[in-house]
Amino acid sequence: KKLLWLDCDPGHDDAMAIYMAAYSEKVELIGISTVYGNNTLEKVTNNTLKILRMGGIYGIPVYKGMAKPLTRKLTTAESIHGDSGLDGCVLPDTDQKAITEDVLHQIYLKIKSLPKKVHFVATGCLTNLALLLSTFPDFKDYIEQISLMGGAIGIGNWFPCSEFNIGIDPEASKIIFTSGLPLTMVPIELTHQVSITEDIFDKLKAMNTHFGENIVGLMTFFKHTYKTVFGLDLVPLHDPCAVYYVINPDAFTVKFRNVVIETNSEYCDGRTVVDEYQTSGRKPNTNVAVGLDLNAFWEEMLSALHKCNKN
Ligand code: BDR
Ligand code: CA
Repeated sequence: KKLLWLDCDPGHDDAMAIYMAAYSEKVELIGISTVYGNNTLEKVTNNTLKILRMGGIYGIPVYKGMAKPLTRKLTTAESIHGDSGLDGCVLPDTDQKAITEDVLHQIYLKIKSLPKKVHFVATGCLTNLALLLSTFPDFKDYIEQISLMGGAIGIGNWFPCSEFNIGIDPEASKIIFTSGLPLTMVPIELTHQVSITEDIFDKLKAMNTHFGENIVGLMTFFKHTYKTVFGLDLVPLHDPCAVYYVINPDAFTVKFRNVVIETNSEYCDGRTVVDEYQTSGRKPNTNVAVGLDLNAFWEEMLSALHKCNKN
């Protein structure tokens, strides 16, 4: 099995990424680190622990990562994910505690100690990963690849020119895109195709359990905020797409392109500048995901949720 690390900020779609990573036959979820983003670090960390409990997932260590961007002011997304960061259902309490001391060093030691290189999936902003790479020069030797949900080929979502995860800490993002590590970016153009349809809502409702009700509650909340904030009729499962890339890369169409991060512009900071037509002369550094076999994705996603349902 591939070893998978998940760095996240739950967050409705992050919760679904956790379930996919925990229950896939193809990967072993080694650890989870949390980062501010969809809400404060405090709240997204508590949400992570509760999501694990709700899905019957035990024994996965949770590391409480960074609380703010490298240099910029903190941004959080209550308008999309609610005051708790996971509005829409009541999450269960849990006894599991996060690791809170010397956290970056602990993550480094854990990943270094593994028998194989890890597939690092980031579904939040990139502050934790940037600090790991810059603080521990040999950290990259233990990384097989990075798969991240973030960026946009064209227009942004949270900012006119940039997607949320990249745009809230562009300086951190730049460290990842210049790291030289194998890198796949799953942008919003792809994840907007992975929306929960009425047919899928029916399948979730048909679970007919407390877990199923909670998932429907969460996703219904997410659906409403996408409509009110963006005017979009979408319930996009952005984050599990980056996990699914590790599980089944063959299901994706990717283009290997140069991508640079804008950090010094009046209006476009956090923009992922994708050289689609390869005219810049800059060397390709990123697999940009542009297509996905949706049936294969939903089979994996629903199978993971059914396994949660059994616990
Ligand atoms: C990304 O932003 C967050 O709100 C979501 O969890 C996802 O990771 C989408 O732009
Ligand atoms: Ca996220």
